[in-house]
Amino acid sequence: MKKLLMLVAITLVISFSSLAFGQDGGAIFKAKCAGCHGPEGQGKVGPALKGTTLSADQIVDLLSKGNDAKKPPHKKPMVAVSADDAKAVAAYVKTLK
Ligand code: HEC
Repeated sequence: MKKLLMLVAITLVISFSSLAFGQDGGAIFKAKCAGCHGPEGQGKVGPALKGTTLSADQIVDLLSKGNDAKKPPHKKPMVAVSADDAKAVAAYVKTLK
């Protein structure tokens, strides 16, 4: 019985921490977007993202599918950004003001 409880506890800890990491849009933004869009999304090589009129879904689309009408790196899907990361980072971009 004790062993089972330990197992449950360990599983919970692991799933909580992966949830936290998987959803940290701010960290993903700093690692993969800030170099071009600025640490506060104020714009640098890329345009400012704070206050963007794009919806979170449109941002996810741009990151995961790319858009032929856009300049690189968004012409093509960003391979460095997983589907989950794209969602987390899009939600983060929407919090920038
Ligand atoms: C290598 C530089 C670079 C990186 C890295 C980069 N971007 Fe961009 N981004 C650009 C450029 C340049 C544009 C403008 C493209 C255009 O308008 O043709 C752009 C445009 C965008 C747009 C559209 C803005 C608008 O108003 O139309 C969004 C949204 C965006 N980037 C999000 C992101 C996110 C989120 C990340 C990180 C996962 C990221 N970008 C990483 C350079 C970059």
